[in-house]
Amino acid sequence: MKLLQLLLILAFFQFHQICSRVIQPSQSPPVAPSPWPERFHAVLYMNLSTGYPQITNLWYDWPKGRNVNIMQKQLKDQVYDVEWDNGTSFYYTLAGNGACRTMYFEVGIPRPDWLDGANYLGREYSNGFLCNVWEKVDFIWYYEDVVTKIPVRWDFYDGIITHVMTFEVGAVLEDSQVQAPEYCFQEGKDQFLNTAFE
Ligand SMILES: *[C@@H]1O[C@H](CO)[C@@H](O)[C@H](O)[C@H]1NC(C)=O
Ligand SMILES: *[C@@H]1O[C@H](CO)[C@@H](O)[C@H](O)[C@H]1NC(C)=O
Repeated sequence: MKLLQLLLILAFFQFHQICSRVIQPSQSPPVAPSPWPERFHAVLYMNLSTGYPQITNLWYDWPKGRNVNIMQKQLKDQVYDVEWDNGTSFYYTLAGNGACRTMYFEVGIPRPDWLDGANYLGREYSNGFLCNVWEKVDFIWYYEDVVTKIPVRWDFYDGIITHVMTFEVGAVLEDSQVQAPEYCFQEGKDQFLNTAFE
């Protein structure tokens, strides 16, 4: 009697499993891209709208409320873009005479879950990586590796495509590397901006 009961239960369980397998779509779309790790370093390669290449070292540090882009255009001075969560951004060069522009934004740095609410578009290969793709407010198209969940690429509305070349979770940039130079706090350094940052 007991054995029969057990068999019945097993049979029911299996039936239930088969049913749920049939009823559920084979794969429901992922809800949102994976949140960004609280800290990471990525090397990004992009082709600017001028057609010129740029390498950017992105150091995202949510606990410190800091997002740093160190931008290298071909054979030009490196440009630092140090964004703080209080809305202040320092945009400067260290080479030559040095130039700095301080900017204030309403919003701080992106939250780790800044891609929440994006629309899922399906799967697509990018540079040989099978990716889930999302779009958010016609501003960004975001490609995440299906297996590793690492971002592979993002495209901005202006046509600039960013390729993620390396992605190091947990890497931290030393504070001394992003100390805004003293001339960020002086008048008159903006005049160098046009030549330095074009
Ligand atoms: C970069 O952009 C230019 C102009 O938009 C295009 O001609 C060129 O093929 C692009 N290069 C790469 C490597 O994507
Ligand atoms: C925001 O934080 C940075 C880094 O601590 C600081 O240099 C800057 O002055 C702050 N901005 C404001 C408006 O408080």
